[in-house]
Amino acid sequence: MIGTPRSHFQLTDSTNERARELALAGAPHGTLVTADEQSAGRGRQGRRWTAPPRCALLMSLVLRDFQETLPMAAAVAVCEALPLAAAIKWPNDILVGRRKLAGILVEGRPQESWAVLGIGLNVRTTEFPAELRETATSLQLEGIETATEDVLELLLPPLAGWFRRPPAAVLDAWRRRDALLGQTVRWATGSGVGRGIDETGALLVDTPAGRRALQAGEVHLER
Ligand code: BTN
Repeated sequence: MIGTPRSHFQLTDSTNERARELALAGAPHGTLVTADEQSAGRGRQGRRWTAPPRCALLMSLVLRDFQETLPMAAAVAVCEALPLAAAIKWPNDILVGRRKLAGILVEGRPQESWAVLGIGLNVRTTEFPAELRETATSLQLEGIETATEDVLELLLPPLAGWFRRPPAAVLDAWRRRDALLGQTVRWATGSGVGRGIDETGALLVDTPAGRRALQAGEVHLER
């Protein structure tokens, strides 16, 4: 069952790190780690993830049985769980309007049958650091007053459901939420117009030199 057993920390460095340790120690599929606060929350591409204490849902799941579409399934599930319209900015940022509400970080070793799915979702945050002030949001700032624990309860059933769906259904649902479709996107060495994702999750972009497929691990989109 997704979400059981559960370990909750008032403060830990990173729930993904705790979940990784549990995975290596043999924790079962669905094991959940949550925290009120992280001292070294990890984001994608070596970035930090920060949130004031008890203001964000900070969770990591140990998964043993998963498909290559796991990060996309998680993004679709987060959108579906939310009581407001949300879209996905490739590869898996959750946006409300143009602002980021939640981020997803998948780490693991598929060859050893474990992955850690980390989700950070801003629930009650009202003040962001200066560098995020124009680009981040929270449920509270979007007019939804709720508690992190209630958001967790909303989120677990769609996560469990989307983990079981066939990859083609996950890709279809992801594509219906694609925030970059038809938008100009820029990365360090180029720019183009978003044309959806291929079967591997690579972002398709039309550039003056033709269509390219951008890999999530290699390309960092500029805002
Ligand atoms: C991103 O948008 O770059 C991904 C952010 C993922 C943050 C979450 S918070 C819970 C879990 N523990 C971590 O250290 N990171 C993820």
